[in-house]
Amino acid sequence: MTPESLKKVPRIGVFLSGTGRTLVNLYDAIESGELRADIALVIASRECAGIERAHERGIEARITAGDMPPTQLDALVDEFQIDWLVCAGYLRLLPITERVRGRIVNIHPALLPSFGGPGMHGDRVHRAVIDAGCRVSGCTVHLCDDRYDSGPILAQSACPVLEGDAPETLAARVFQMETMLYPLVLDRLLHGGYRVDGHRAVAVTA
Ligand code: GRF
Repeated sequence: MTPESLKKVPRIGVFLSGTGRTLVNLYDAIESGELRADIALVIASRECAGIERAHERGIEARITAGDMPPTQLDALVDEFQIDWLVCAGYLRLLPITERVRGRIVNIHPALLPSFGGPGMHGDRVHRAVIDAGCRVSGCTVHLCDDRYDSGPILAQSACPVLEGDAPETLAARVFQMETMLYPLVLDRLLHGGYRVDGHRAVAVTA
């Protein structure tokens, strides 16, 4: 058995396009020991606040504008020895190369498979949930495939949609759930706590 202190800490690449609040949440979870990982690199699809948040924390950040070319993704994975690719408000689809297949994770601010897909991000998601008259919403952590908000679901957390909710109030409640769920699920995933079989993922004892 390998002593805990000798085990390699999984290295994650964090992909974002916006505020970087999910990056900050993951960084804090690593600092507190809740998430056993190192952030090797932040990659943004455009100029955004998330890059500043990375730099403030001493994390290298790079911009690849628009879609990530497959060869560039593989080169970054090699250069930074990235084990897992973690989407944190990334508005592009990552290419599924052989190197990264099954190693890309995303969090979506609704209960998939509902309210996902192309163009479903930010307050549009919460507006759609409210307009549909849902009484429950939440967030979903899932592995990524070649479509938006698709791939095996790892875990979901639910919260109520309250009378009089606006997209902003619901978004804040869902994000609270995200801050708890994402580090928890990532820690489990990165340390062998899921068995993935085709489109199904099952939590197992690591
Ligand atoms: C989170 O709500 C997450 O669910 C989604 O993107 C949001 C974070 O992005 N994937 P941002 O920082 O608000 O741009």
